[in-house]
Amino acid sequence: MSHNSFGHLFRITTWGESHGPAIGCVIDGCPPRIPLSEAEIQVHMDRRRPGQSRYTTQRRETDQVRILSGVFAPDEGEQLLTTGTPISLLIENVDARSKDYSEISQAYRPGHADFTYQAKYGIRDWRGSGRASARETASRVAAGAIARKVVPGLIVRGALVQVGPYPIDRTRWDWNEVDQNPFFCPDPEMARQWADYLDNVRKQGSSVGAVIEVIAYNVPPGLGAPVYGKLDQDIAGAMMSINAVKGVEIGAGFGAASLTGEENADEIRIGPEGVPEFQTNNAGGILGGISTGQPLIARFAVKPTSSILTPRRSINQAGEEIDVSTKGRHDPCVGIRAVPVGEAMMALVVADHHLRHRAQIGG
Ligand SMILES: Cc1cc2nc3c(=O)[nH]c(=O)nc-3n(C[C@H](O)[C@H](O)[C@H](O)COP(=O)(O)O)c2cc1C
Repeated sequence: MSHNSFGHLFRITTWGESHGPAIGCVIDGCPPRIPLSEAEIQVHMDRRRPGQSRYTTQRRETDQVRILSGVFAPDEGEQLLTTGTPISLLIENVDARSKDYSEISQAYRPGHADFTYQAKYGIRDWRGSGRASARETASRVAAGAIARKVVPGLIVRGALVQVGPYPIDRTRWDWNEVDQNPFFCPDPEMARQWADYLDNVRKQGSSVGAVIEVIAYNVPPGLGAPVYGKLDQDIAGAMMSINAVKGVEIGAGFGAASLTGEENADEIRIGPEGVPEFQTNNAGGILGGISTGQPLIARFAVKPTSSILTPRRSINQAGEEIDVSTKGRHDPCVGIRAVPVGEAMMALVVADHHLRHRAQIGG
């Protein structure tokens, strides 16, 4: 399987399968002398970790991350610093129950990657969906935690803004609410409604899709290359690379199609400190593929989890028509745990573009 690496100058390579002994990643190109501890990576791992509420898979993974290389404390007992050499991260799989998946070893779940992996490679690790499992995204979150530290002042935040047919009320948006409910929801009222809705979905053995919004603050103007290395192009590719993602928007996104030119163009004035100040941010912080200095705004839609209890029509490896229903432990809405993953992908893109900008233009 080729193409397991992402990024140019801040480049990650992830490895491992859902039910193998461990997963992990190697980060190549991280600048030296950045303070880094396992604990600060773990904060982000704990937000993505499964089994934290009844609305996510009950698989009990601790997702403890270990730094195997690329850091050193020049003074004994002092803070570890990155050395500029490859950083290798390891996350052990401690709660894999492969027998839950034996029924799908020969069957193709509709909506999952069983059919395409078999068609492409002629072999697939069906245990926990192997490399097609979102377990791989734990490595992205670990790498993203380091990427956040590469860009001075960078803050990346994510929120769930729609579950099934229910969007949040954006007038109630409160970032402080995001860590107060099991959904990363910035609207406390909608979080309560989602709880009842998802309880029902889960009891029926069904699943639903969702929309996630990710915002990067303190991104300086100038990141991005204007033709084939557009910042928005790379953010879209990054988000689309997450499992189950079916659509990505930047700024006003698809909504821009129904705006007039007057409504859409972000007007500019000189702010109190003499710096250009945009009056709105329909562009999502990017013009001509280059960051404006406004927050970067991306949204992505995830489809409903394909592993559901309701029988669906499919075929098996012998070419017979069968019905498939999936047992095992699955997320009724993968959008919840996709929030920290989206944040990580945004951080990885910004860190990579920060280094690419520095390489071409200077510090
Ligand atoms: C955080 C997260 C958790 C996921 N959990 C599950 C799951 O429990 N069961 C499942 O069938 N798919 C799950 N998925 C989606 C599958 O990994 C994905 O649908 C599959 O790899 C096929 O790829 P595609 O949907 O991108 O085409 C999850 C996705 C994400 C982002």
